[in-house]
Amino acid sequence: MGLSRILPRSQPLPEPLPAESADEPEVAVPSALAPRLHAVPSSPVAGDPEEHALAKVIAFANQKGGVAKTTTTLNLGVALKEAGKRVLIIDLDPQGNLTMSQGMNPDVIERSMFDVLVHRVPISDVIHTVEVDIAVASIDLAGAELALSALIGRERALEKALIEVRDKYDYILLDTPPSLGLLTINAFVAADGVIVPVQCEYLSLRGLVQLENTLAMVRENLNPAVRVQGIVPTMYDGRTLHAREAIEILQENFGDLLFETRIKKTVRYAEAPVKGSSVLRYDPTGPAAQAYRDLAKEVLDGAQAREHA
Ligand SMILES: Nc1ncnc2c1ncn2[C@@H]1O[C@H](COP(=O)(O)OP(=O)(O)OP(=O)(O)O)[C@@H](O)[C@H]1O
Ligand SMILES: [Mg+2]
Repeated sequence: MGLSRILPRSQPLPEPLPAESADEPEVAVPSALAPRLHAVPSSPVAGDPEEHALAKVIAFANQKGGVAKTTTTLNLGVALKEAGKRVLIIDLDPQGNLTMSQGMNPDVIERSMFDVLVHRVPISDVIHTVEVDIAVASIDLAGAELALSALIGRERALEKALIEVRDKYDYILLDTPPSLGLLTINAFVAADGVIVPVQCEYLSLRGLVQLENTLAMVRENLNPAVRVQGIVPTMYDGRTLHAREAIEILQENFGDLLFETRIKKTVRYAEAPVKGSSVLRYDPTGPAAQAYRDLAKEVLDGAQAREHA
């Protein structure tokens, strides 16, 4: 990413990640067997062209709060499902907004991604089927970073948890919290690519340098393959010069990484989660739903282009 060409490296580089020792024994205590909430879809049948395909894992990240990470994870996930893909979305944010936006209350959920990451509960035990399959967050996920920090292999907890389901889905989308802490690092380690939702404002663009620095460290130490796969401009209001200029800056700096789809500013995106729904179910024929279908098409076309390259 070439953002440093125009934006100064104002943030000092974060401390290097500790070297990991994957071969040492894990200290996490295995929990008792939990009841299965959900039957994970069966593997593709023999002869299916996708037989051996593993899910593409995409993290949605931006340490700036309120830029539409959660909105994009849910609505893109539902749009990919509409397009015939098997989709799992994962709530890695202690705020639990993704979980809430599918009509569940994180305050009363018993087993969540906390148990998966810290106690090694199988991820299938915390997957619920709503509009798409969702691995839920609960309030105790707030303690996950602290609990994980004492564990060996702490950056790989999510990657390991996903092994169980990677051949059951085509796309696994990770909603991360507004920070570059251990939960987001876990997402970067487990991911093939990162999609960065960016609010169309100048101040929102500056944090991208720090995001790229963190990703560079993850590449160096933990996951050499992870890259920014795309930048999604969100809350775009084409009537303002400021938003149009923000798009220009993004275009200059990211070129092809910038998705063509602009997610416009509309109250529909705030209304839908109140009903526990994606905007594709809440207002299926409206432009807000169409925007995420367009984005899904770009994501699918990009995946196809890479396969045929
Ligand atoms: N295109 C949009 N136009 C208007 N409002 C939007 C749009 N996208 C999202 N919102 C609203 O903006 C708020 C923040 O969105 P969202 O929760 O998806 O951001 P986030 O990046 O996940 O936030 P956080 O960093 O707190 O996790 C929500 O109320 C959401 O409904
Ligand atoms: Mg969020």
